[in-house]
Amino acid sequence: MPLIYIETYGCQMNVSDSELMLGVLAREGYVRTDDPGVADVMLVNTCAVRDHAEQRVLGRMGELKRHKRPGDVLGVVGCMAQRLGPTLLERVPQVDLVIGPDGYRSLPELIARARGGERAADVEFKSWEHYEDVPAVRADRSSAFVTVQRGCDYRCTFCIVPMTRGPERSRKLADVVSEVTRLADSGTTEVTLLGQTVNSYHDGDCDFADLLRAVGAVAGIRRVRFTSPYPTDFTPRVLDAMASTPAVCEHVHLPVQSGSSRVLKRMLRRYDRGRFLEVVAALRQAVPGIALTTDIIVGFPGETEDEFQETLSLVAEVQFDDAYTFKYSVREGTPAVRLKDHVAEEVQGERLERLIPLVRGVARRKNIGLVGTMHEVLVEGRAKRGGLLQTRTRTNKVALVEGPEEWIGTYRHVRFTGTTGSTFTGQAATELVVL
Ligand code: SAH
Ligand code: F3S
Repeated sequence: MPLIYIETYGCQMNVSDSELMLGVLAREGYVRTDDPGVADVMLVNTCAVRDHAEQRVLGRMGELKRHKRPGDVLGVVGCMAQRLGPTLLERVPQVDLVIGPDGYRSLPELIARARGGERAADVEFKSWEHYEDVPAVRADRSSAFVTVQRGCDYRCTFCIVPMTRGPERSRKLADVVSEVTRLADSGTTEVTLLGQTVNSYHDGDCDFADLLRAVGAVAGIRRVRFTSPYPTDFTPRVLDAMASTPAVCEHVHLPVQSGSSRVLKRMLRRYDRGRFLEVVAALRQAVPGIALTTDIIVGFPGETEDEFQETLSLVAEVQFDDAYTFKYSVREGTPAVRLKDHVAEEVQGERLERLIPLVRGVARRKNIGLVGTMHEVLVEGRAKRGGLLQTRTRTNKVALVEGPEEWIGTYRHVRFTGTTGSTFTGQAATELVVL
């Protein structure tokens, strides 16, 4: 049986896409391997959101070519593949095939052509493509990613995603529900619904509120998560569905990008600071105890010290549970390239160095306040170090507990006994939470 090795970079949707690629290739008889040294086909599923992500992949290609024996195929797939297209074949001679996010059906064909000595790219957008008939091959049984929307129609001026993932389209609600039902039948209890602006989901008849209720009603599904929502797409209907669907978890990743209304305007985000704060208040009102995390970009073109200060004050005001922080990265072809007053790399770095301790300090204070409290957790697996089990609360907090291997995949009650500031140690009750 031929062996396939896939390395995945970037967001959860890339993880989900890799599972689809494994599905496409499983139909051809391929079996997954974690060892590039024995693989017949090696794929690198890439991210194009920041230059740093692309540089890492280019470095990695140099390493992977060492594992390439005669007849082996090395492919670049995903967002960077879409962005660079056939030019990637010229730039990186060891690459045999290049496929964008809508082209994974052509994997078997392009692999066959590569074996015949023909290097090729498929970077055509297919606005109908949902890989509906492809059974994803998932590694984890308890928790599953389910892509419900592909592409993005928003036009944030910094972002390459609309150019790498094409136009937005939603799967039919019935198709999502039947996939989740199949997953639940095979033991999955947690699903994370994925889309670039997932709460703008609309299949022509049903909106995101309908989707949350329908997925939350599938027998056996105990937890429903979703990522990433767009702040202004939390309609009253969606808030109501979140509040009244018990399976929907008390955590939202709510990318803000900046605390300055002027910067948000240049980013073409569809809200200002005040509107964002209203969304935060509405979420907290609808779902008491909800945890909020975010994405922040520093050093967007034209960002002044005063505008950056507004990001600092927003973090303090909202009290996010956590934040991913990025230096603005120029993406060729995006509108922000043409904006005036690009911020020097040193200034970006210096701003990040002020933002990160603030984010950590806020998170630490919140987390210290949680020590001593009880939580229902899903036991996800062995922690990387120390022989402990890694568990996760509904609010997306990670707690390490002592316990036997058999607990993996079950729900337990855990009391938090300490925190590093970001993760927790906990004491688990021995009895199982009955599903
Ligand atoms: N719609 C997706 C956004 C994908 S990009 C979502 O909401 O998750 C993920 C994050 O990367 C963005 O929220 C943004 O904070 C960051 N990002 C995107 N483009 C960037 C750029 N050019 N430079 C720096 N960070 C960027
Ligand atoms: Fe990018 Fe904005 Fe869409 S961040 S993915 S263009 S919502």
